[in-house]
Amino acid sequence: MRHLLSTATLSRDEATRILDVAEDMADVSTREIKKLPTLRGRTVVNLFFEDSTRTRISFEAAAKRLSADVINFSAKGSSVSKGESLKDTAQTLAAMGADGVVIRHSASGAAAVLAASDWTDAAVVNAGDGTHEHPTQALLDAFTIRKRLHGAASRGKDLDGVKVAIVGDILHSRVARSNVWLLDALGAEVTLVAPPTLVPVRMESWPARVSFDLDEVIADGPDALMMLRIQQERMRAAYFPTEREYSRVWGLDDRRLASLPATTMVMHPGPMNRGLEISAAAADSPRSTVREQVANGVSVRMAVLYLLLAGVSEAA
Ligand code: NCD
Repeated sequence: MRHLLSTATLSRDEATRILDVAEDMADVSTREIKKLPTLRGRTVVNLFFEDSTRTRISFEAAAKRLSADVINFSAKGSSVSKGESLKDTAQTLAAMGADGVVIRHSASGAAAVLAASDWTDAAVVNAGDGTHEHPTQALLDAFTIRKRLHGAASRGKDLDGVKVAIVGDILHSRVARSNVWLLDALGAEVTLVAPPTLVPVRMESWPARVSFDLDEVIADGPDALMMLRIQQERMRAAYFPTEREYSRVWGLDDRRLASLPATTMVMHPGPMNRGLEISAAAADSPRSTVREQVANGVSVRMAVLYLLLAGVSEAA
């Protein structure tokens, strides 16, 4: 693996390997000294052209726990706000000796453009490109599901037959796309639940079922119910009448929370719109994995950075 741009190209074995290495990294995080010397002398640049809290902090923590040097770059307050292009920015960072570039950008395909370019030789990790993909989020979600289901016996396990429902703004969600490919590769059965206006066209090729009835999907007893944020910043039209109406028909409100089978875990990638796609009680309930997802994100990103960067010799 030279870059991590998408989950669509990951085989079951490759995905399981990343999750297993992440288990080892999670063990490191329970030690008194949460640090490995593995990436000492390497430089990881976090190149964030879009706002982010948890993903940027998570990559920063992951790189630091592997002893890499970290340079954080965010577009606000940088020369990008003066009109500097991705190319010029990338070349500047390459000249500073970046070994790995973690990029978030509002344009779908930006990470792939950077990886295919000769602007930098760095390994590229896609940390979210427009509405396209967010592979480390899907990996941390799969890790979280596997961990809740198998606990300490998670290593080597796939998600064969595990039922996952992904609910909400599928249209604008890179999290949904990356999860569909990865969960399918791991053997899970994915159901997408959304208002017809928030379902992408040309979805027939996706390995997932579509439902327009959240209560029916809940009654079917999914192992995981993944609620998505309504991506208001990507909406240029009205996709549903009112927030109250959305919440009533498509949200995980307190009534639906009470009707969930005891074994269903509730997931959300964050940031949450409490009271819109998920109620406060659902977000804070013991079945919610939201905080585990954040903690697991660091382990998964450590695994990805390690697998991409540790093998590359300094001279190469
Ligand atoms: C997601 C993203 O940015 O795509 N969030 C995240 O990475 N923590 C999901 C979202 O913003 O809704």
